[in-house]
Parts: sequence; C-alpha cells; structure tokens
Amino acid sequence: MQRFRDSATALSSGQPCDCLPPLRAAAEQLRQKDLRISQLQAELRRPPPAPAQPPEPEALPTIYVVTPTYARLVQKAELVRLSQTLSLVPRLHWLLVEDAEGPTPLVSGLLAASGLLFTHLVVLTPKAQRLREGEPGWVHPRGVEQRNKALDWLRGRGGAVGGEKDPPPPGTQGVVYFADDDNTYSRELFEEMRWTRGVSVWPVGLVGGLRFEGPQVQDGRVVGFHTAWEPNRPFPVDMAGFAVALPLLLDKPNAQFDSTAPRGHLESSLLSHLVDPKDLEPRAANCTRVLVWHTRTEKPKMKQEEQLQRQGRGSDPAIEV
Ligand SMILES: *[C@@H]1O[C@H](CO)[C@@H](O)[C@H](O)[C@H]1NC(C)=O
Repeated sequence: MQRFRDSATALSSGQPCDCLPPLRAAAEQLRQKDLRISQLQAELRRPPPAPAQPPEPEALPTIYVVTPTYARLVQKAELVRLSQTLSLVPRLHWLLVEDAEGPTPLVSGLLAASGLLFTHLVVLTPKAQRLREGEPGWVHPRGVEQRNKALDWLRGRGGAVGGEKDPPPPGTQGVVYFADDDNTYSRELFEEMRWTRGVSVWPVGLVGGLRFEGPQVQDGRVVGFHTAWEPNRPFPVDMAGFAVALPLLLDKPNAQFDSTAPRGHLESSLLSHLVDPKDLEPRAANCTRVLVWHTRTEKPKMKQEEQLQRQGRGSDPAIEV
C-alpha cells in the first residue's frame, strides 16, 4: 500500500495528470488481494479435513446377501455381528428374510439402525416343515421358504415389508450369496464372489465334521470335492460355499430350493438348475483359502432366568436382548 501512495505522490508531483483515480482503484484491488491471501493463509493453517471416503464405485456389481433368520435368544447377537461384517463391504444389498407371521420389531429396528441397503422380507415356514423341539436340524432343512422368498423378490414378485421395495432393474450386474446368520465371514470373501459369471465356489471351514470342505481344483478347474459325507451328491457344497450371478438366476426362473430334497441335497436342488459341476468357478486362490466358517453359537442356558421369573423377578422384558 505504502508503495502505491509513494508512486502516486511521485506521479502527481510530475506533470499534472488524472492518474489518481486509476491508482486508487489499483490500490483497492491490491487490498482485496491481500485480504484474500490472508484468508487463504488462515485456511492453510487449519488442520486438513478428514480424508473423504472413496466415492461409491458405481461400476461394481452389487452383492445380494440372502439371510434367513428366526426368533431365538441369540438372534439379535447374530444379526448385529453379521450386519457389522456386511457394513465393511461396498455395493452390498442385504435381503433379510424372517421366519415369522409378520415383521418383528427386533428385526425391523436392527435393519433401520444398520445403515445398510436392505430389503426386509417375511415368510412363515409351513407347520409340516417346521422342526419340533429337540429334532435334529437335518430332519427338515431350515430356511428353505425364506431363501425362496428372496429369490421371488429378486425376480420381481414383490413381498418386501421394509427397506428397498423395488427389485433390481433389468440388466443389473450382481451376484447372490446365501449367508446364514450364524456363520463367520471374512470381508475378503465378498470381493472373491463379486465378479462371478455363473456360479463361483470356495471352501468352508469347520463343516461336515472336517476342518474344511471344499472343491478340489486342478489347472484352475473344479475336478472334485473334498468332503467326507456322500461325495457323490451332484454338488457336495455347503450353502456358504457358493454364489450365483444374478443374471443367471433371472434367466432360470424355475431354479429354487426344494424343501423336499433329501438331507444334504438342498444346495444341489438349486445348483443343478444352474450349472454343470465342471463349469464351477473356483475362487479364494483356487480354493486354497478358507474365508468363511460354519460357526455355531451355543444355546444360552436360562436356568437362573427361569428361576427369577418364577419369583416374579425376571430380567426386564422391555429391554431388548
Ligand atoms: C489358479 O490356477 C491357475 C492354473 O494353475 C493359475 O493360472 C492361476 O494363477 C491360479 N490362480 C490363483 C489366484 O492362484
């Protein structure tokens, strides 16, 4: 500023001229620039903002995770654990299917709080197919109606009671995975399945009485299965051990799970509509890495609870567990 006043003086002391207004304008401009510079300097001194999340990768195929669930003491714990695993995965849509007469507050609340893109579905297992108290799990395969309900929704037959109601628009790139609520999933598994063209497969840990079960791979192709039990099933794979491309499922509208399938054949009842075993796509480093485990949560014992309830002092039923 000082400089300008000097030169203005110098100029005006020479031949008289009308140069004062332009000089004033220039000085004002400079003052504005000084102001802007100090603003920018102040901005630079401020700590940098938190790094922005990478933009949602629009080009990624969507992973549709189908989870049947039913009311029991550990239901919320299992669903919280699973939903927080799924939160780590981009471009994921959770299809949670309750085995109930209608949507329950526990599941509706959990979905709303999850932050996930979800569709809430409900279908009650018919009485004839329900397990009776103490019956082993293999008498009737569990979750059949619920998985088929999710397939119906994907095929545009509606039925959503919460969340996203519209099915994937035609041409959607996606993959469908059947993820029960009691297994343990590595986030890496989801990237393995994302680019499935037909049906992809991988090993599952702690299942079938073995450390792991899974496809045997030679030269990048599935040539057999490591399993101890009925190895001659068409597809001796666990529910958690495969994913199906969405376009393939939509191309085969009759492909669904058969609730009358014999023990251990439920997976085959779907897959035999969809793929030839030799065309299975091995994932997880040619099926040498275990990224999902068939964990089982122990049924909690409620002896003390029952005792307190008899005395009218049970845990507050208004508190959701
Ligand atoms: C799987 O095996 C094929 C054939 O041996 C090989 O070309 C490919 O690199 C392997 N893939 C991985 C991820 O190890």
